[in-house]
Amino acid sequence: MAGTEFYGAEEKKEINEVLETGIFFRFNHDAQRNGIWKARSFENEVASLVGAKYAHAVSSGSTAVSCALAAAGIGAGDEVIVPPFTYIASVEAVIFAGALPVFAEIDETLCLSAEGIKKAITPKTKAILLVHMCGQMAQMDEIMALVKEHNLVLVEDAGQAMAASYKGTSTGLFGKTGCYSFDFFKIATAGEGGVMVTNDEAAYKLADSFSDHGHDHIGNNRGMENHPVLGFNYRISELHAAIGLVQTRRVPMIRTLNNKIKQHMMAELGKIPGVSFAAIPDLNGDSATFLNMFLPDTASAQKVVEEFNNNGVGGFNYWFTNMYHFINQWNHIKNGNVAAKTNVQLLGAPQDYNNMELPKTQETIGRLISFGIKATWTEQEVNDLILKMTACIQSALVQTA
Ligand SMILES: Cc1ncc(COP(=O)(O)O)c(C=O)c1O
Repeated sequence: MAGTEFYGAEEKKEINEVLETGIFFRFNHDAQRNGIWKARSFENEVASLVGAKYAHAVSSGSTAVSCALAAAGIGAGDEVIVPPFTYIASVEAVIFAGALPVFAEIDETLCLSAEGIKKAITPKTKAILLVHMCGQMAQMDEIMALVKEHNLVLVEDAGQAMAASYKGTSTGLFGKTGCYSFDFFKIATAGEGGVMVTNDEAAYKLADSFSDHGHDHIGNNRGMENHPVLGFNYRISELHAAIGLVQTRRVPMIRTLNNKIKQHMMAELGKIPGVSFAAIPDLNGDSATFLNMFLPDTASAQKVVEEFNNNGVGGFNYWFTNMYHFINQWNHIKNGNVAAKTNVQLLGAPQDYNNMELPKTQETIGRLISFGIKATWTEQEVNDLILKMTACIQSALVQTA
């Protein structure tokens, strides 16, 4: 969480600058815009925060995934390994790219595991869409070794993990392309928005054109521009970019606050027998937007959820049953419910989506409860929450023992 917790005068100032010029479009109109280029400034801010050579802002995290896939050359008929635990946008982007999702197992990092990926690789596998979940990061050493060994394309959806890193490299920058979401629920929001990042100039240029009907953005006469590739409209507006710019500046401060709270909660809740936490491959790289807690098994996690609900403890997600982030809730994919035919229907699904063997994922998500951390919580509020959670967890574990 957090971007929306801090909102105020700075956002208004940046938006007003755009309102004064009247130029809401991110390209051209050089004379009228009086030097105000919010989308460009937003991109520079994100690039500098994460250490990317190139950042390209678009209309949403979802369209940023589409740009990342297109710019990495993923398209019709390509098999792409995806996780069964992610926001549905990741899988939608693969399908609407004309590619075919292949679901593989996650592990205690809440992300695809190298072991899971290895089992899912076929001669047709072209890419991995690795999703860094719940503010944390995947086990990158093992995954990068596999990517190299099998000559795969790595695309990273760090929609929920901007400002997370592994051994000094930001999530989103291990593969060919990566992306972040700036929707209303993220560590920084633009209202709606997304950013694709890459260190590869050619991929950046492709994304820049792909996200704006193929325009090459050379010169100041849009009508006379060239169009090196076919594209579509995934543009961000100057107003959204103005908000994203301010919010991105606050991310280091929010990350520090989040980490302090998360570490305190883990230390206290970790004293309860039966409670453990999702694996964090690099503790220093956690963006700490979520406290990701494991109970011993699905039955005890469900009992804890019941206790939380009965005792007024809110602010958590039990992804296994009540959220759109888990394969058990994706009946449209399993049953092929589409508005219009996709390549999954045309070419056939690479797996039987109704009969997938993902026991590790089922077990992991079954016992996971994630709390959104609020950077603005006071020490008193955090301690009160810990006390309430402890009482609920202890009572639930006694009942399921
Ligand atoms: C992992 C992941 N990818 C992509 C998205 C899509 O982002 P947006 O809501 O900005 O389209 C989300 C949004 O929650 C997400 O969590």
